Amino acid sequence: MRYRVNVLLLLLAFICFRDPIAWSATDPGDVAVLEKIRKGLENPELLQWPSGDDDPCGNKWPHVYCAGNRVAQIQVQNVGLSGPLPVDFNKLTELVNLGLQRNNFSGKLPSFGGLSKLQYAYLNENQFDTIPSDFFDGLTSLEVLSLSKNPLNESGWMLPSNLEDSAQLTNLSLISCNLVGPLPEFLGNLHSLTVLQMSGNMLSGEIPASYASTPLQILWLNDQKGNQISGTIDVIASMTMLHEAWLHGNSFTGTIPGSIDQLISLERLWINNNQLVGVIPENITLLNKLQSLRLDNNFLVGEIPKTTIANFSFSNNPTCQDTPGVPCAPQVSVLLDFLESVNYPLTLAKSWSGDDPCNGWLGVSCSGTNVSTLNLSNFNLNGTISPSLAQLSSLVKVHLQGNHLNGTIPTELASLHSLNLLNLSSNNLEPPVPKFGSRVKFFVDDNPFIQHPETAASPGTKGSGPSNSSRSDILSSDSKMLKPVVVVIPVVAGVVIISVIGLLICIRWKKSKLSPAVVIHPKQPSQTDNSVRIDIADSNANLSSATVDLYSSISSGTTGSHSLESGNSVVSVQILRSATRNFSSENELGRGGFGVVYRGELHDGARIAVKRMENGGMSKKGFDEFHAEIAVLSKVRHRNLVSLMGYSVEENERLLIYEYMSQGALSRHLFGWRELGLDPLPWPRRLDIALDVARAMEYLHTLAQDKGFIHRDLKSSNILLDDEFRAKVSDFGLVKLVPDGDHSMATRLAGTIGYLAPEYAVSGKITTKSDVFSFGVVLLELVTGLMAIDETRSDEKRYLVEWFQYIKWNQGKLEDAVDPQINISDEKTFQSVCKVVELAGHCTARDPHQRPEMGHAVTVLSPMVQKWEPRDCDSENNVGIDFGRPLLQMVMGWRDADSKCFTTLSSDDSKGSISNRLDRFVSSLYSLDGR
Ligand SMILES: *[C@@H]1O[C@H](CO)[C@@H](O)[C@H](O)[C@H]1NC(C)=O
Ligand SMILES: *[C@@H]1O[C@H](CO)[C@@H](O)[C@H](O)[C@H]1NC(C)=O
Ligand SMILES: *[C@@H]1O[C@H](CO)[C@@H](O)[C@H](O)[C@H]1NC(C)=O
Ligand SMILES: *[C@@H]1O[C@H](CO)[C@@H](O)[C@H](O)[C@H]1NC(C)=O
Ligand SMILES: *[C@@H]1O[C@H](CO)[C@@H](O)[C@H](O)[C@H]1NC(C)=O
Ligand SMILES: *[C@@H]1O[C@H](CO)[C@@H](O)[C@H](O)[C@H]1NC(C)=O
Repeated sequence: MRYRVNVLLLLLAFICFRDPIAWSATDPGDVAVLEKIRKGLENPELLQWPSGDDDPCGNKWPHVYCAGNRVAQIQVQNVGLSGPLPVDFNKLTELVNLGLQRNNFSGKLPSFGGLSKLQYAYLNENQFDTIPSDFFDGLTSLEVLSLSKNPLNESGWMLPSNLEDSAQLTNLSLISCNLVGPLPEFLGNLHSLTVLQMSGNMLSGEIPASYASTPLQILWLNDQKGNQISGTIDVIASMTMLHEAWLHGNSFTGTIPGSIDQLISLERLWINNNQLVGVIPENITLLNKLQSLRLDNNFLVGEIPKTTIANFSFSNNPTCQDTPGVPCAPQVSVLLDFLESVNYPLTLAKSWSGDDPCNGWLGVSCSGTNVSTLNLSNFNLNGTISPSLAQLSSLVKVHLQGNHLNGTIPTELASLHSLNLLNLSSNNLEPPVPKFGSRVKFFVDDNPFIQHPETAASPGTKGSGPSNSSRSDILSSDSKMLKPVVVVIPVVAGVVIISVIGLLICIRWKKSKLSPAVVIHPKQPSQTDNSVRIDIADSNANLSSATVDLYSSISSGTTGSHSLESGNSVVSVQILRSATRNFSSENELGRGGFGVVYRGELHDGARIAVKRMENGGMSKKGFDEFHAEIAVLSKVRHRNLVSLMGYSVEENERLLIYEYMSQGALSRHLFGWRELGLDPLPWPRRLDIALDVARAMEYLHTLAQDKGFIHRDLKSSNILLDDEFRAKVSDFGLVKLVPDGDHSMATRLAGTIGYLAPEYAVSGKITTKSDVFSFGVVLLELVTGLMAIDETRSDEKRYLVEWFQYIKWNQGKLEDAVDPQINISDEKTFQSVCKVVELAGHCTARDPHQRPEMGHAVTVLSPMVQKWEPRDCDSENNVGIDFGRPLLQMVMGWRDADSKCFTTLSSDDSKGSISNRLDRFVSSLYSLDGR
């Protein structure tokens, strides 16, 4: 008996020491799903699951693997199973790895929504015929997904955008599964995506520029049915990790980008069966990993480069030779240069095949074996006239009338001594017009930029006959005096980056390579309007940033009449109407992308600034979001931030109330001081401003983690100065408030050209480091007194950041770029300027990771700012950030802190001190209330 008890105890002890989960029976919910799978199949016996058993984990069913008592894997690849999966398949919530590939599963795929542990899902090569739209919901651990080769939704389906939540996704295979529509842009936001296979679908549109920011190594987009993928292949030249690009069997157009030589890992490039034009870039052969290059069935012209690529095919292109490395005939080379300058129109590219232009090339006639006539009138040609044409010395007649040719007429053409007719009428050519000999009948009428009284210029002496327009007078006299110069420097603007390293900047500028990311087209050069269009490099997408400077406005002013006590800061529109005299235009302080700012005066004379947001027909939801957002913004308090003190929302009105900043925007004092009769800012004051801004941004960024406080539009016109020239940053957080619809671009890509961080402009990806970039630009403005962007400046000076780069390249002296108002002959000042330039270079580093945090800027600037910052003011940074506190209480705390600071600072001007203004502000609230 006693012995038995001991055995029992022993047994119990054994049980207790075993892993309790492993021991217990399989989760009944999981068992139920497995049973349903089995039941649904036509040939369940292939699974060899024991019948009458309810413990697949404990009894180790074939194909099933568990973690504890939950099913973690099902692996049945290539077993031959037929039939559907049960609808509640996603109750296997611990599933990590699923291998169902290469069976005959069929019917509707169950939703995988909520399988948050699922990392691998191989469903390829089955007969699933329907995919529910919630299939992809919440697959937050997903790394590999293959749905390839399933006849899903026969009429086509589009990838739901909630797949974007699968941020870990590395492999996505969707070959031949009936995808339709444009290539999903959101895939560009998956920053782990290395393999994307979408061949054999019905996709169309262009490759989104966003794909450039993925680490793609394998990209298969080949053989689309229907409209096919079109546009250029330029974006792939930015995918620097690429090993394999299969783009064949589509409708790609344009040329093979020369910068393809950056794809140093490229092994296979298949771009055959498209409509690519142009020459094969010679340096493609420099890609030493490239093993396979397929170019067949395009419209590529010129010479085939000689390569060592093992598998190189190029048949069915209008190349001049069939043998690599054999050059084209000289006449052909010239005509191909011409073709390039008119952007390779397909009609000509198709026809201009082989090495003999006299063999029936469209628009080309010969006398003997020499090209004598080029007749391409009304061919819809775009582009310019290549100066190489002058090398075709046998040319007698050239008809290029009725096209869209632009640029200038190459003077070289005047050296064609057989030429007797040159008709360039009805184009968009520009002066200067070269002089042709008297033998040449020269027509250049109907070119809007060239003023010409007579159609056929009496040739010779009059050449480009003058007209009564003053512009043409100047130009034609120019043309007599000057050799033609390149008038337009190609717009390679780009956001260019100073990567100034250490103190080197003051000593020596080194040359470095610069790769433009963005092309910027300033529209209206004016002091306060930076409204522009930008083109992202290698795509045709035009994004407009509507953000315009506000030259004055703003800050912590008034508010919440009736409901102040409840911690709210809502003011009635009525009060603000009367404060601004019904928003009269005399009271207008400025206009910006978000609305118009008005000066206002409360009953007791306290001045405020009221921003009237643009009414972009806002939905109920929009209003609610506006409320919520403003409630948060109005609680953000920092001495160097223009605080939002109140707001109004009634009907379509949305008004924001700020303190009035008497000195207006920093931009006025930096760039507009002469016109406005202001004094230039002395260097110490600029340093103070820099530090104020740095502190404001540092503060915003420390809130950024959870509240999303990234300014997104920091610039000198958003930096406002008060009576004492203390700087405050305004307009933070407003970007998020711009309603969708007309403004959706601005919401997506807000910010101002010249200040935009390159990665933000390209990918729309925003981090605190984008603000750091803008801050660096502001520093450069403080140093140079030049606007970030100014179209009236010479080309190399147009973009401030680039201008600095330019100096660097040309080993220029820093002194030349410094604002003449700053006295750098003073060694101390010069050293201080150098330090700021160094910091600016650091902040505007191209790679966001190389930019410092704002805290670093504060650390650098603080010791440079002398004496006058009482230390205890710094400790005030956090006053009032208690999001739970009612506004009034917060204002009181804030006032206390400020008064401490400002009484030490400006004993003289009690009128201007914040505490004083606040007193009046608070009392004005009560007087409003009592009304
Ligand atoms: C799927 O079913 C078809 C016939 O319906 C059969 O020919 C094929 O072999 C099956 N495939 C597999 C992998 O079992
Ligand atoms: C596929 O088709 C089904 C039924 O027609 C539809 O409910 C489902 O939303 C479609 N799937 C997708 C991803 O559009
Ligand atoms: C992802 O795709 C690549 C290329 O096809 C392949 O080599 C790799 O094994 C895949 N990874 C997984 C986990 O399936
Ligand atoms: C490769 O060639 C293209 C033009 O064909 C050119 O734009 C590019 O700069 C070249 N790259 C190098 C490294 O020479
Ligand atoms: C030239 O541009 C016009 C208008 O932009 C366009 O309609 C035309 O197709 C273009 N011509 C060629 C040959 O690409
Ligand atoms: C010619 O026109 C095109 C398109 O309008 C433009 O992109 C290009 O810069 C112009 N070229 C010149 C030399 O003006």
